[in-house]
Amino acid sequence: MRALELAVVVPTFNEQPNVRPLLQRLDAVLRGIVYEVIFVDDDSPDGTAALVRSISLHDPRVRVIQRIGRRGLASACIEGMFSTAAPFIAVMDADLQHDESILPRMLAKLKAEQLDLVVATRNSEGGSMGDFSAERVRLSDLGKRLGTAISHCDLSDPMSGFFMLDRRFLEEVAPSLSGIGFKILLDIVASAKRTVRFGEVPYRFGQRLYGASKLDIGVGVEYLQLLLDKTIGSILPPRFVMFGIVGAFGVAIHMAILSLLLLEAHRTFYAAQAVATFFGMTFNFFVNNSITYRDQRLKGRDLILGLLTFYAACSAGALINLQMAMFGVDNGLSWFISGLTGLAAGSVWNYAVTRIFTWRQKRAAAIRPRPVPVPAAPERVISSASR
Ligand code: GDD
Ligand code: MN
Repeated sequence: MRALELAVVVPTFNEQPNVRPLLQRLDAVLRGIVYEVIFVDDDSPDGTAALVRSISLHDPRVRVIQRIGRRGLASACIEGMFSTAAPFIAVMDADLQHDESILPRMLAKLKAEQLDLVVATRNSEGGSMGDFSAERVRLSDLGKRLGTAISHCDLSDPMSGFFMLDRRFLEEVAPSLSGIGFKILLDIVASAKRTVRFGEVPYRFGQRLYGASKLDIGVGVEYLQLLLDKTIGSILPPRFVMFGIVGAFGVAIHMAILSLLLLEAHRTFYAAQAVATFFGMTFNFFVNNSITYRDQRLKGRDLILGLLTFYAACSAGALINLQMAMFGVDNGLSWFISGLTGLAAGSVWNYAVTRIFTWRQKRAAAIRPRPVPVPAAPERVISSASR
């Protein structure tokens, strides 16, 4: 039996209808190459993982890693890439938008030119963004410019989610990977400590056949987190920076409400400050829950519990802020420095305590299992003859 040569890592979230068509296409195009396909599924409610398992029963070249209580395209790709022994590893989407027919060319190029990485690109001759809206093309361009700045690598399509690499290169960059958000390719090249030897193969971005894209506003925010991590990440955790930015908006809302109640509604300072604090904290909680902690977003009963712990933590944080600031003033520091010190102490407290009590990682046992639709009868998708 020939040795395993290529692994295709496919991150999935609710891609059940695309699994069989993708495997069929890979089988057709990868004849003569010894390969395996690894789906990394974030416990999709549509039963993607169960379907893949039913196929794996009959075809050992197909595997699934089912992650419980976690979300994230980049981190899913990383786990998939490290679960294989193959010397060459491709990453591609499940939704058939990435043209699998160029995989053999990517592999041949990687080997012949002894490259670290081959990227399937939409932006060079012969490639195309497909039916992207003008707005999405513009957004993609902006992201691309920022990406090039942090990666020091002149890829024509750094936002691509379709590429192939040499596992020695992967192992080299592994310690510096962020694993944040959607842009795993950018994460990889930005983690390299030397010039990356890369090649490109153009392709046309296809139409999604089934299911829906998971791209939304949060993906943009996670991109920002990745950029932060790659620039100042060794000094400040990007989540803390996000928490601080959200906090600054909270302060603005607080002050707006305070001035409204004080100057327009003529309430007492005490009442106005209490109401403003309440609204400021509530705003901070919900924005942090949907942006800063998007990957651990609280819902239902956890949301109420989280809100209460957030109020408690931030109330204590406000006291610490005041105490620190007063201590500064009492010891002869200027009001400006004292105010900043209080603010910094309060922010660190709020961040640390809510990180532990509000957005704590769930225990596996606390994640409620949900019923999964039973997939259709198993069938051989990839013939064993091609191995
Ligand atoms: N495991 C896991 N976890 N998979 C995910 C998650 C997640 O949280 N979110 C999305 N995926 C999977 C999808 O199931 C799909 O297979 C793939 O990642 C891409 O998701 P889409 O929602 O289809 O993204 P897109 O089509 O808008 O963008 C993709 O193509 C672009 C062009 O190559 C992504 O790959 C982008 O990174 C890429 O720039
Ligand atoms: Mn897609």
